[in-house]
Amino acid sequence: MAHVWLIGMMGSGKSTVGRLVAEHVGRPFYDTDATVEATAGMTIMKIFERFGEDGFRERERTAVAEIAEDAAGVVATGGGVILDPVNVESMRNAGTVVLLSVEPDVLIARIADDEDRPLLLDGIERAIRSLDRARSDLYRASSDAVVDASHSIEIVTEEVEAICNAL
Ligand code: S3P
Repeated sequence: MAHVWLIGMMGSGKSTVGRLVAEHVGRPFYDTDATVEATAGMTIMKIFERFGEDGFRERERTAVAEIAEDAAGVVATGGGVILDPVNVESMRNAGTVVLLSVEPDVLIARIADDEDRPLLLDGIERAIRSLDRARSDLYRASSDAVVDASHSIEIVTEEVEAICNAL
């Protein structure tokens, strides 16, 4: 099995589902946001504050390239990972890309109280709708499989696990 990369909007469940799937299939779990934070020694919020979005994207690209070289596992990515074609190429070369697809209304309800995401600081509802409009085609074009992630974590985990087991 090569890597299974989970992509999708903030709040689509990539980290929760990824961790569970990795545990069930007995593979390592990776998280690009966590890797960026550990390497930089600061939170993503602080990285955006100090280095701007470009500074974050540069660190994210390095994290993706490093994880691509690691032992095959399940990878949760940050929602904007697909914005850089270099990341999409790295991910596809090193495995299968699975989109966790969730309607904006469901995402907005899920992350209503979230304060850790810099791109949502100006208002969650407007930001999610505009990110969804800007990215939905890119998410689909970057993925090898799509899972409807508006269902419960258990169902989504089972579906992603089935994809892993079929590889
Ligand atoms: C981002 C999503 C975040 C994080 C950063 C930017 C995005 O990750 O990488 O705040 O551009 O959608 P999650 O999708 O895990 O929240």
